[in-house]
Amino acid sequence: MTRLALYPGTFDPITYGHLDILERARHLFDAVEVTVAVNARKQTLFTIEERCALVEASVAHLDGVTVAPFEGLLVDRARARGAVALVRGLRQVSDFDYEFRMAFANRRLAPEIETVFFMTSEEHAFVAASIVREIHRWGGDVAPFVPPPVVDALRQRRPQ
Ligand code: PNS
Repeated sequence: MTRLALYPGTFDPITYGHLDILERARHLFDAVEVTVAVNARKQTLFTIEERCALVEASVAHLDGVTVAPFEGLLVDRARARGAVALVRGLRQVSDFDYEFRMAFANRRLAPEIETVFFMTSEEHAFVAASIVREIHRWGGDVAPFVPPPVVDALRQRRPQ
């Protein structure tokens, strides 16, 4: 049986921290789908199509990883895909409150699906998409934080 996990997020944009979590998840699961949330409630820098394309370009070197846009309840997607787990990354204690609430809500909705947390490597502990957007906004170098396709995409976009 293929054990599929979903790795959901907004990925605006995908960072080296996300890739680190994805690679760790891929070691434990046969397949991982990066589920890119449309997330209409968040004002995103990149459109859903751009975010998916940037994830696809950034995970091209990884086997068993697929990318899909999604709008709706995550557990519905997980059930529809036959996924056994939801993957989330933890960087620091402050992530925990939000993650804890989301994991409990998802468990209430779908008790058969586990949320599995991976700790990021220390070097990525402070990398967040919001920090990348902030550095880009003020014209800083984002190359240490995001894979080359994202660096290129940000370069083509004037800081706003
Ligand atoms: O990278 P993010 O922005 O922290 O990801 C949040 C995301 C997309 C995983 C979360 O908002 C989500 O799962 N949205 C879909 C709606 C849903 O199922 N919410 C969980 C129940 S609270």
